[in-house]
Amino acid sequence: MLIAGNWKMFKGPVEAGDFCRALRDAALPDDVDVVVAPPYVSLAPAVQALAGTEIGVFAQNCHWEGEGAFTGEVSAPMLHELGVYGAIVGHSERRQLFGETDATVAQRCRAALAGGLNVIACVGETLEQREAGETDAVLRRQVSVLEADDNLVIAYEPIWAIGTGKTATPALAQQAHETIKSLLDLPVLYGGSVKPDNAAELLAQPAIDGALVGGASLDVESFAAICRCGSRS
Ligand code: 13P
Repeated sequence: MLIAGNWKMFKGPVEAGDFCRALRDAALPDDVDVVVAPPYVSLAPAVQALAGTEIGVFAQNCHWEGEGAFTGEVSAPMLHELGVYGAIVGHSERRQLFGETDATVAQRCRAALAGGLNVIACVGETLEQREAGETDAVLRRQVSVLEADDNLVIAYEPIWAIGTGKTATPALAQQAHETIKSLLDLPVLYGGSVKPDNAAELLAQPAIDGALVGGASLDVESFAAICRCGSRS
């Protein structure tokens, strides 16, 4: 079970350090892997505050080249050098707002893995695609560019459930996760309005191997509560 907090563009360096020190002291279950994904500028204080703990720090993206003329980008070797443990790639906000495609997501994923990072690769359909009966085709297309790897997990994040308070029902999420697993036999996290009060039900589904949490990961108590929902003990 993996619970990951995607902070998106929230928490600068000072707040990130404070949050991570509080998280370090929070009661987290031993049988749940916990990671946080702060913005780039807050990675160093997060790594520092969580040093010596089991809590990993992820970046929210990663470029496919090691270095070069790519203004605004950060590479896997740079993240690795900083002590960052992994990277999210292909988040729907990157795809929808910043022109990421299946091809660039695949390149980023491959480079991050090759650079020694763990990867959470995100997939998911829009409301329009779901209503048009295209969910399976979209998932198939997005997953088809990825290759199985011991250090790769997929996150299923239906776009209509992100930041909307509209969670996929556990049954609907289970179905999408089964589709993804039939294409690539990897752990699959669910993301989209996961909160302390719906996490247990979602995480109880057999094909749901964890959660990628946005808004509810920004508060230590609510994030820790979601982590506790993932415990089997
Ligand atoms: P919310 O939990 O805020 O809906 O965000 C989900 C998400 O996009 C995590 O990557």
